[in-house]
This record gives sequence, C-alpha cells and structure tokens, in this order.
Amino acid sequence: MSALAFAGHECRAGALVRVAAALAEAGIEEPQREARLLLCAALDLPLADLIAHGEVPLGGGALRLEKWLHRRLNREPLSRIRGHREFRGRLFETSPAVLDPRPETELLVDAGLARLKASGRPGPRILDLGTGSGAIIVSLLAECIEATGVAVDISAEALAIAGRNSVAHGVSGRLTLLSGDLLAPVTGVFDLIVSNPPYIPSGDLAALDAEVRDFDPVLALDGGADGLDFYRRIIKTAPSHLTPGGILALELGIHQAGPVSALARGAGFSDIVLHPDYSGIERHLTAQWKNR
Ligand SMILES: C[S@@+](CC[C@H](N)C(=O)[O-])C[C@H]1O[C@@H](n2cnc3c(N)ncnc32)[C@H](O)[C@@H]1O
Repeated sequence: MSALAFAGHECRAGALVRVAAALAEAGIEEPQREARLLLCAALDLPLADLIAHGEVPLGGGALRLEKWLHRRLNREPLSRIRGHREFRGRLFETSPAVLDPRPETELLVDAGLARLKASGRPGPRILDLGTGSGAIIVSLLAECIEATGVAVDISAEALAIAGRNSVAHGVSGRLTLLSGDLLAPVTGVFDLIVSNPPYIPSGDLAALDAEVRDFDPVLALDGGADGLDFYRRIIKTAPSHLTPGGILALELGIHQAGPVSALARGAGFSDIVLHPDYSGIERHLTAQWKNR
C-alpha cells in the first residue's frame, strides 16, 4: 500500500500514526494534534472514541481520510476541507469566497457587545462592514436578542453564505444583507458599527503562510499599500452613520493599533480602547462617537 493510501480494514490507531508521520514530513506544525483532528473529521468521530477504540477498522471512512489528507498536505486548513468552522460555539458554513473566521475575532464580538451593553440602549441597531461568513453579525444578533443588524459585503458569494448562516442560527429575521462597497449601500444610523476589514499590506501578501495565502480570498486580505486603506475609509464615513455616543469596533492587524487610534482620534472619536487578543497583541479598537 502507498504511504498515503488507506484501506477500510486498516485500524484507526495505525492510520493515526501514518497520518501524523505524513504531516510531520510535510512540515505541518503539531502533526499529532492535526492528525487526530483530521481522523476525527474524516471518520466523523468524537476524539474520545478515536482514543478509546483505536483497534476499530476505518471502514467506509478510509477513502475520505485519504482525500482529506492529500488536501491538508497541500496546506488547505482543516476547517476549509470540512467547509465549516466553529465561532463562539456556533458552526458557520464557509467557502473559498469567505475568510475562514479566526478565533481572535470572537473577542471583537465581546468588545463590541460589552460597550453596547454598557451604553444601555434598547433595541440596538448594528452594522457589520465586510461581513464575509457573517460570523460577527450573526453572533452579535444571536447574543443580543433585541438587536437588529445590517451586513455589507462587496462579494455576492460571501453574502449568500452569510445569509445561510443567519438562517442556521435563527437571526435572519433581524438581519438585512446589502451588497456594495463599505458604507455606500447603507442608509440610516447605528448604535454599533463593527468591522474586521482587509488589513494586510499588499506587499506582504506573498509572504503569508500558505494556509492563508492560498485559501483565504485576496479580497478579504488586501488592505492596500500600508494595510490601512479600509480604516481610513471606514473612520471617515462611519460618523455619519452612528447615533450620538454610538460605538465603532474594529479588528486590527499587527502594528496597526497606533495608526488606527490616531485616525480615530483625528476624526473626533473619544474613549478609544485597545483590546488585546490571546497573544497579548492589541487586536481590537473600540471608540465612541460624539455624544451631542
Ligand atoms: C477580513 S474579511 C472579514 C470577514 C468576516 N467579517 C470575519 O471577520 O470573518 C473582510 C471582508 O471584507 C469584504 N470586502 C472587501 N472589500 C470590501 C468593500 N470594498 N466593501 C465591502 N466589503 C468588502 C471581503 O469580501 C471580506 O468578506
């Protein structure tokens, strides 16, 4: 049998060893952990079952394991292979048209929700710019049941995915999806404007990890020459769509906290707070619009 072929009679434990070895040889980090996740996903098994019953044959899952291992060796992230990703405890459908939602973005939802709740506004209106899979706005609406939302993306394919995710999580009745360029299709004012915009400097795209560079859409990554194009545009136009005292909440790239804070201050935002991610990097900014 070829090193990367699997037969139905092969036991799970043996396959696990071979998958981990193939991943290690390809230079994929944490090959043991990745191998366990890959087997569980391909065989549709809980981890405890894989560990406790390693002697069980792969059965009909062998072919899927083989195909998925080849894709992972080609650097495709497991969440992309599966076509969904967990975000704040909910499963979100993904596709090649949307950014794979990141764990640190869960903290943007926390930061936005905390400031929204502190403001004590009843029935808040929330706008999400560059919604992608809809992970941010769907989570916000699911966790703030009085809120209504608008989500914008320039990609029609992304909006279709966001729409399906809003249905899956029971918030579609409170969400309007708009196709267009940032705030161009938006009317009205909001209590919270949230965005995780494209923020990678164009010149850095080629050097990204293959998992990101080859599988996240460039439309979701490219933030212009210095990575700040979208922040300039959002900070300039958001004030005319915020209620007095409304909140702006943005995800930031590395080393962008200083320049984006300066942009927000210069535009008249106050109470600017930088929120660290799990690695201690200043990853999110929240700020308040003038309370007239
Ligand atoms: C970094 S991704 C964020 C996706 C999602 N909000 C998340 O956090 O997982 C940025 C998103 O902005 C969208 N986008 C890019 N340019 C845009 C524009 N000019 N107007 C609206 N959306 C845009 C992309 O299609 C992509 O879905």
